[in-house]
Amino acid sequence: MSAFDVVVIGAGPGGYIAAIRAAQLGKKVACVDAWVDAKGNAKPGGTCTNVGCIPSKALLQSSEHYEQAKEHFEEHGIEVGSVKLHLDKLIGRKNTVVSQNNEGIKFLFKKNKITFISGKASFAAKNADGTYAINVEGKDAQSLTATHVIVATGSAPRALPNLPFDEKQILSNTGALDIDKVPKTLGVIGAGVIGLELGSVWRRLGAQVTILEAAPTFLFAADEAVAKEAQKLLTKQGLEIEVGVKIGEISQTAKAVTVPYTTAKGEEKTLKVEKLIVSIGRVPYTDGLNADSVGLKLDERGFIVVDDECRTNLPNVWAVGDVVRGPMLAHKAEEEGVAVAERIAGQHGHVNFATIPAVIYTTPEMAWVGQTEKQLKEAGRAIKVGSFPFMANGRARALGDTSGFVKIIADANTDEVLGVHIIGPMASELIAEAVTIMEFKGAAEDIARICHAHPTLSEAVKEAALAVDKRTLNM
Ligand code: FAD
Ligand code: NAI
Repeated sequence: MSAFDVVVIGAGPGGYIAAIRAAQLGKKVACVDAWVDAKGNAKPGGTCTNVGCIPSKALLQSSEHYEQAKEHFEEHGIEVGSVKLHLDKLIGRKNTVVSQNNEGIKFLFKKNKITFISGKASFAAKNADGTYAINVEGKDAQSLTATHVIVATGSAPRALPNLPFDEKQILSNTGALDIDKVPKTLGVIGAGVIGLELGSVWRRLGAQVTILEAAPTFLFAADEAVAKEAQKLLTKQGLEIEVGVKIGEISQTAKAVTVPYTTAKGEEKTLKVEKLIVSIGRVPYTDGLNADSVGLKLDERGFIVVDDECRTNLPNVWAVGDVVRGPMLAHKAEEEGVAVAERIAGQHGHVNFATIPAVIYTTPEMAWVGQTEKQLKEAGRAIKVGSFPFMANGRARALGDTSGFVKIIADANTDEVLGVHIIGPMASELIAEAVTIMEFKGAAEDIARICHAHPTLSEAVKEAALAVDKRTLNM
């Protein structure tokens, strides 16, 4: 039986990053992961690498190129003739990108002298000396002893009641990333992040996409101004989005899925589509972990119960990422993984939950950090708001992508930045400046006084900061 200082269960972004940081800090580390391909080869990287962040961004990029070539190259004076889609090649490229990331993680394990074990781990017992016995089944079946255990087992897609995923017609994110023929019609239940990103992919590739959302308002977690602009722009692109619906009993034949639903106004409607993506959120995944055997506490929704520092109810057992409370985001999982490894090594790792950015990779992209205007007003906070449209930004005009704006919310008295909300080109990259400023408790005036290169999209961030003090220069 091999003994380790730290055994990490799960090699998604929470787990593999925790393993690397613990190894950097001198710990003897093993990381066990259950993800394998059809041939049984280990595919470390978790949901993020295999069926999440990475493949979705690969498909978003390819489908964006396709749409650009078809619709927009002409504006640049470029004629490409007839544009043809080879879906098998497009999906193949996505699979290659995924494999490169799997191999990259295996390389990082070797580089950091981490023992990578392919298989499913479960708690076997708590030993008399306070260590834990971990059992691994699968390719590298064995028994391990761990002084510390980090559980990073992630999440799984939530299905609608009585409608299991078959990944052919009823698709979770896994099937939605691997459709072999562009469907003529595609339904999506849930206008959240997956619905909008993957709905956009298949719309760009030629499907008629209808998204049905239960919540009465579109993108309720986003700032209202961003959500409103996004709904307008995405609808204009051809995504049909209906909010405030109640989904009825869904039925299937070999060729179609029928979705009866009641609209917000109470009308009875039916959507008939070739395929249906169900993206109504995800649930924590602890199947097969045998949490009960050691008394690891889960809450009523199945999340592992942790404190602010990712400590579970058991000594030396930690949990990070999607399997614990908080946003289900790869970078949140990574930050928690690093902080836990540092705590195990006696350091003072810290995650600032107030500055975790959110990004939606549609066109235009949306990104935000901090609080929305509505949240701040409801909290009775005195605020100043500045915004600047990309329409007035030279680089955005040169790119041919002037949709959206940057909105900065600052404290009315101290000028501290409390929230930054961006919809527009490269919002995913622009948000980093806002996160940095907020981490340092900076003011809108700080952004306004920093020299931003010209011509860049980041100048719109500077101008929005100037707008907080009503002194934009280019508008
Ligand atoms: P996971 O990545 O789910 O990894 C958990 C790993 O643990 C898996 O490999 C699993 O096989 C393994 N495991 C589970 N149980 C066991 C066991 N008993 N023994 C051994 N191994 C086990 N987030 C972003 O920040 N940006 C994005 O752009 C983004 N895009 C996404 C797109 C899609 C389509 C989806 C579905 C998600 C996306 N996410 C994105 C969310 C992101 O993927 C998750 O937040 C992230 O993967 C969580 O990391 P994790 O390490 O907690 O868990
Ligand atoms: P989500 O939580 O983003 O959206 C789910 C949507 O479905 C919500 O708008 C909800 O109101 C709606 N919904 C729930 N039940 C419904 C029902 N019965 N009928 C109709 N609508 C219903 O979840 P999603 O899109 O499944 O994504 C899962 C997770 O993956 C998210 O937590 C997200 O953080 C992560 N993710 C992150 C991405 C990113 O960071 N860019 C990309 C994709 C996923």
